[in-house]
Amino acid sequence: MRRASLLLLLLSSSMPVILQLAAAGADGEDAAALLAFKAAAVGGNGVLASWNASAGPCSWEGVRCSRHQRVVALSLPSHGLSGTLSPAVGNLSSLRTLDLSFNGLHGDIPASLGRLRRIRTLDLSFNTFSGELPGNLTSCTSLQYLVLGSNRLLTGRIPAELGDTLTRLQRLGLDNNSVAG
Ligand SMILES: *[C@@H]1O[C@H](CO)[C@@H](O)[C@H](O)[C@H]1NC(C)=O
Ligand SMILES: *[C@@H]1O[C@H](CO)[C@@H](O)[C@H](O)[C@H]1NC(C)=O
Ligand SMILES: *[C@@H]1O[C@H](CO)[C@@H](O)[C@H](O)[C@H]1NC(C)=O
Ligand SMILES: *[C@@H]1O[C@H](CO)[C@@H](O)[C@H](O)[C@H]1NC(C)=O
Repeated sequence: MRRASLLLLLLSSSMPVILQLAAAGADGEDAAALLAFKAAAVGGNGVLASWNASAGPCSWEGVRCSRHQRVVALSLPSHGLSGTLSPAVGNLSSLRTLDLSFNGLHGDIPASLGRLRRIRTLDLSFNTFSGELPGNLTSCTSLQYLVLGSNRLLTGRIPAELGDTLTRLQRLGLDNNSVAG
């Protein structure tokens, strides 16, 4: 009797934690961010059509999850994607790799990417991104590979700041842009 009520107490007190974990996982906020990515991108040679409810986000092409079912990689290089990069990608808080190189994405590189504290590889090279290189990327302190070459970015004086703050950086590629610094 006493054991049963203790069990009940344990169950009811852990319930909100379990619900919170579920909301943060691939089926919650991560899935919402991926769907926003899908909505802003165009084309993709059918790859985004396969991102549908017939399977969970962790089995979508180009998406890799951790064993905790958090999205850790979004990798769709050379997939004929155009359109823009949704700022919602900044909500993939466990992301370690974002590789969208060799596509036709345009518009700004969203400043929200600065919220990706775990990102190690950011490769957006060979697209047509324009605008300023977001200063917010200096918050991505885990970055090792930052490759944004062959776009139409105004890189300005940001690269020096990046070098100062991103102490783990092994490769910084900004070539073939409209470098103004
Ligand atoms: C949904 O995705 C699956 C693969 O995950 C694919 O076989 C199927 O054709 C897709 N459905 C639509 C309507 O695109
Ligand atoms: C990120 O997630 C929060 C909380 O779910 C949401 O309110 C916000 O709109 C999302 N950001 C973007 C850019 O979608
Ligand atoms: C820029 O980075 C800061 C610090 O990480 C973050 O709080 C802020 O939301 C980012 N800006 C945008 C537009 O997401
Ligand atoms: C420079 O960038 C543009 C835009 O991505 C690309 O089309 C072109 O091939 C690049 N040139 C070189 C030499 O890499």
